[in-house]
Amino acid sequence: MLLLASCQSETPMDRVTKEPFGVAPDGEPVELYTLTNGGAAEVTIMTYGAIIVSLRVPDREGVMDDIVLGYDSLQGYIDTSPYFGAIVGRYGNRIGDATFELDGETYVLARNNGPNHLHGGLVGFDQVVWTAESFDDTTGTGVALTYVSQDGEEGYPGTLESRVTYTLTEDNVLVVDFHATTDKATPVNLTQHAYFNLAGAGSGDILDHELMVVADAFTPVDSTMIPTGEIRDVTGGPFDFRVPVAIGARIEEDNRQLILGGGYDHNYVLNGGEISPFLAARVFEPTTGRVMEVHTSEPGVQFYTGNFLDGSITGKGGHTYHRRYGFCLETQHFPDSPNKPKFPSTILRPGEIYASRTMFTFGVMP
Ligand code: GLA
Repeated sequence: MLLLASCQSETPMDRVTKEPFGVAPDGEPVELYTLTNGGAAEVTIMTYGAIIVSLRVPDREGVMDDIVLGYDSLQGYIDTSPYFGAIVGRYGNRIGDATFELDGETYVLARNNGPNHLHGGLVGFDQVVWTAESFDDTTGTGVALTYVSQDGEEGYPGTLESRVTYTLTEDNVLVVDFHATTDKATPVNLTQHAYFNLAGAGSGDILDHELMVVADAFTPVDSTMIPTGEIRDVTGGPFDFRVPVAIGARIEEDNRQLILGGGYDHNYVLNGGEISPFLAARVFEPTTGRVMEVHTSEPGVQFYTGNFLDGSITGKGGHTYHRRYGFCLETQHFPDSPNKPKFPSTILRPGEIYASRTMFTFGVMP
């Protein structure tokens, strides 16, 4: 791997550059990396939260626009952020009653979402400064970010050495690779929490985007958004996205699950495939022609329609983010897996390697 030593934007040839992006609350400097692939796409990633700050891709006329919600500066992310663009961990999504049992021990986590634990706790992986190293090699241009989560941090057992690698390829794929090891058994469920609007961040709601999800089933939730344990067939209802449907077409239907989520905020059980990563979802935005495909090695994806955005956040370029101005496709293991023995296990043990890949592919359609 060819590492670019100190890659301050010296020459126009640099496909990965680095610049200061402010200072975290603990005094640590934060850096912003810009990855390009010869003009067809550009992504910026900062070391705070390993956050995707911007992602610029062309529309069908070749016009570039930023398609992820977020802030212009670090301070916005520090003040308040519903996980815009962040890496969520140690456990993405909810753990019921903020407790789990593992090898006969009971662990108690922060109750930061009603009675439950959400997205790693009070200071999750989205709010820490990661250590970054950039590269530019045959796989593409990228940045690898590492974070060591201490034994007991946010109540989780074991020292977790985690790494996320973002690679931007020549053919407009943003590859997100996760890698982790531990010295004690612990639950791990890392995910990327970008909010997308393929018409451009802040341009309006995402209800006309057409979505396909390759899933025959989803995991319905109780009134606190914890899966009941049921794996429910999507056939015939508003959760069926096996053929492309506008996100907004059925979102206001009188459906108990949609009411509980305030819209879509549910984990899909992906059909999978023989070759991993397999296709999980495709989204098409008709006015710009932008298309995003999501491939993953994960068994699930949380489809969230920005139901909690309420216009109180003013983000990049002075745009106000109203309800449903962005959607998330958080590839993951299922919520509350540590308490659901029938769900695929999220327990990582010493000597094992946690490895997970998700690929976001950008293109256009007529
Ligand atoms: C996930 C959760 C949602 C919400 C968002 C962030 O998608 O499932 O309920 O917490 O993150 O606001």
